[in-house]
Amino acid sequence: MQNETQIKELVKEKYGKIAREGGSCGTSFCGDVTNIMADSYSSLEGYNPDADLGLGCGLPTEFPKIKEGDTVIDLGSGAGNDAFIARRIVGEKGEVIGIDITPFMIERANKNAEKLGYENVEFRLGDIDDMPVKDNVADVIVSNCVLNLVPDKEKVIKEIFPTLKPGGHFPISDIVLNGQLPEGLKESAEMYAGCVSGAIQKSEYLNHIQGAGFSNVTLQKEKKIEVPDEILLQYISRDELKTLKKSGTGIYSVTGYAEKPAGAKTCCGPACCN
Ligand SMILES: C[S@@+](CC[C@H](N)C(=O)[O-])C[C@H]1O[C@@H](n2cnc3c(N)ncnc32)[C@H](O)[C@@H]1O
Repeated sequence: MQNETQIKELVKEKYGKIAREGGSCGTSFCGDVTNIMADSYSSLEGYNPDADLGLGCGLPTEFPKIKEGDTVIDLGSGAGNDAFIARRIVGEKGEVIGIDITPFMIERANKNAEKLGYENVEFRLGDIDDMPVKDNVADVIVSNCVLNLVPDKEKVIKEIFPTLKPGGHFPISDIVLNGQLPEGLKESAEMYAGCVSGAIQKSEYLNHIQGAGFSNVTLQKEKKIEVPDEILLQYISRDELKTLKKSGTGIYSVTGYAEKPAGAKTCCGPACCN
């Protein structure tokens, strides 16, 4: 796989294309796989079909404890799918900030917010591994199918912790693995952009969340993703596919929840860190 900068460029290129072409990669592959992972949002209040590009891999806004007046940050907000559901709950008094690295996604999300007439929903262009927001601002940070695309997941999780207010929480949906993928899948740029090969082991993911200082780390939903053989066979041989199926390796969409303890200090400099 490429270096971090190249991976981020690849992600921007793929998701920029999806944003411009209306939620599909056309004949290319990343839209196909992310659509397999997506759950239906249509029953959630605040759902806006224009913001649903079929790119999520769970419903992090299904069980969150978002309250009226809260400040919610959506990491990798895409066209604003979860941000608008959060806006429905926080109402006029709250605030929703979406962050995305892909300029065309930000453009699309802003157009959606404008159409909806929301003045307290803002989409910021930025990289979540260097969060463009101050510390201690969010009551809730949500994210849907994004951390798997970020090369340094531990760094992003460490950035999330100070951004949350003490007592704040972090519901997240993402893709994780149980077992090793064959090299052909691991090395594929399209599988990376399609949210498969950038995923890490579930245990490692949970350890990063716990290691950052979060408490009450729980998994609320887990679903095995069955990628069709015809897609897998574009990257691996028939023999490798057989071995993969026997190996028990699985690709899972998970929705989890974590809290920043109410008494937690946010590091504000060397003295505070010590
Ligand atoms: C699979 S899509 C999910 C979009 C949205 N969360 C949804 O459910 O519709 C991943 C999104 O994460 C964004 N993204 C990927 N890496 C990012 C990073 N390092 N910082 C900010 N956004 C990122 C992409 O631009 C893309 O919009």
